[in-house]
Amino acid sequence: MASTSKFQFSVLIYLLLVLFFLSVEGKLPQSCKKYECPTYNVVEAGNGFEIRKYDSPVWISTPPIQNKSFVGATRNGFIRLFNYARGKNKKKKQIKLTAPVTSEVSFNGGKPSIVVSFFVALENQNNPALADGLRVQRWKSKFVAVKQFGGFVTDSNVGRIVASLNASLAGTKPSFSSTKSFIIAQYDPPFKLFDRVNEVWFLSE
Ligand SMILES: *[C@@H]1O[C@H](CO)[C@@H](O)[C@H](O)[C@H]1NC(C)=O
Ligand SMILES: *[C@@H]1O[C@H](CO)[C@@H](O)[C@H](O)[C@H]1NC(C)=O
Repeated sequence: MASTSKFQFSVLIYLLLVLFFLSVEGKLPQSCKKYECPTYNVVEAGNGFEIRKYDSPVWISTPPIQNKSFVGATRNGFIRLFNYARGKNKKKKQIKLTAPVTSEVSFNGGKPSIVVSFFVALENQNNPALADGLRVQRWKSKFVAVKQFGGFVTDSNVGRIVASLNASLAGTKPSFSSTKSFIIAQYDPPFKLFDRVNEVWFLSE
């Protein structure tokens, strides 16, 4: 009897701990209740950032797009991916919509180039529809430093957003840096005006 109640007690403590850790994680974007999002575990919740370990997500990606404008490049890539999802692919199939759309900004000799990607739903990952000019990226499981922010990403605030995650990580997480590249993940369509959720991601080197 005594050992049963001790067992029940430790189960209770365990559940409380689980609830506690769920509640301190960055909030799950609303969009992920409607659309499938890549899954991850939070391995560390820091001050102004969290470190996530992504399971092995699959992405369908544009080639690098050169445009000084982050917004211009992202729009350009997004249109290609939207057409892909609407059936402009080799299977001539409607592709299940997911979130987020990511823009990976890399710097080669100072010039930014941007790869825009769309998460491939689990059911399509084994055999994603292909399309001319798009390629499939399969990540190994990966550590990502993340900061969430709201509103719209613009050419004038994107630098500040990146600098803000960089500052939160300063001195503590040398393996996460934005010098080679960073990712902006957008969870909401452009016509959603309020409660938008975006994230800046630095990948572990
Ligand atoms: C770059 O982005 C700007 C702003 O949206 C757009 O007007 C322009 O056409 C884009 N250039 C290219 C080469 O895509
Ligand atoms: C990121 O922070 C480091 C200091 O931790 C600084 O040297 C570097 O210039 C910062 N980079 C950006 C893009 O803000």
